[in-house]
Amino acid sequence: MTEIPEHLLKRSRERRAAIGKGGDATAPAGDAEAGGDAAGAAVEKSATAAPAAAAATGPAGRTAAAEPPAPKPAKPDPQYVVAAKQRRKVPFWAMATLSLMPVWGFMYVRALTEGGEVAEGPLGEGAAVYANCASCHGGGGGGGVGYGFTEGEVLATFPNIEDQIRYVYYGTEQYNLAGVDIYGNPEREGGPHVTGAQGVMPGFGGSLSDEEIVSVICHERYTLGGADPTSEEYAAEFEAWCAEGAPVFEEIATGALLLESADEVEPFDINGEVFFVSPIGPEPIPGTAPGGAIGGAGQPTSQGGNDEGSG
Ligand code: HEC
Repeated sequence: MTEIPEHLLKRSRERRAAIGKGGDATAPAGDAEAGGDAAGAAVEKSATAAPAAAAATGPAGRTAAAEPPAPKPAKPDPQYVVAAKQRRKVPFWAMATLSLMPVWGFMYVRALTEGGEVAEGPLGEGAAVYANCASCHGGGGGGGVGYGFTEGEVLATFPNIEDQIRYVYYGTEQYNLAGVDIYGNPEREGGPHVTGAQGVMPGFGGSLSDEEIVSVICHERYTLGGADPTSEEYAAEFEAWCAEGAPVFEEIATGALLLESADEVEPFDINGEVFFVSPIGPEPIPGTAPGGAIGGAGQPTSQGGNDEGSG
């Protein structure tokens, strides 16, 4: 058998490739590889012909290479292939957005599950009840028609939670009728808040349940007002009224009436301190200074202010 020079073989392969592998039927298996080589060479050639286009988008480059140089292709592409080739690919900038989709999905699911966990106890309930207050006091407690609660403002007015409960229960009108001018701390920094000075605060006793009133006040003091439940000043109050399973809150939630709750709730021990709940009472009474309504040593003193109120 005589050797056929390599350049002749190559030319033959190129020729066969050009006419669409016409002679392949008789060609040995080894030739298939050769045909593949030729196709590869063709791809390389066209790639160098349009390097910029090929480099910019991978798929586009392949499309260009696959187009045979011959004007009469044996089999024209079916409509759907043509359409697929002409269809616009996803732009590179959209890929960035699309690649964030799983992250977004993860955050979405997390947000849903965590929302369920937060709504527990007086604070969770109070956050929902606060929808009744947001129109006048701001969604985040920043203030509006009514005073703001944030940055300790509400705590400055009401050092003792009972005074705030009484105020929200009765509202401005009842305080006016009872002739009570100062509903909060009479020694408040910057002067006490005087009944009616800023407008009319509706009384919520009756329109909200006792449980709802206590929970929304817990929300105003601890979530919006920033009282620290672990601080010496507020730990006992928090444990008694606003913590999950807090004894006073539980009493009220299971039917004790808010206005009589002081008679129902025995003084009890919190972190070694005897804790008293002072009565809300059957009518508005003046607010108290720090330590006035609750304390570890003596009986509640909030009723003592009555003398000034009736004068
Ligand atoms: C229609 C508007 C309005 C709505 C609704 C409203 N408030 Fe008020 N609130 C006021 C106004 C006005 C004052 C000031 C009253 C005054 O000057 O006597 C006030 C005062 C207060 C204060 C005293 C703040 C301070 O530092 O002196 C508290 C606490 C309070 N509101 C709680 C609530 C709660 C809790 C709710 C929802 C259950 C609520 N408010 C809904 C208008 C409103």
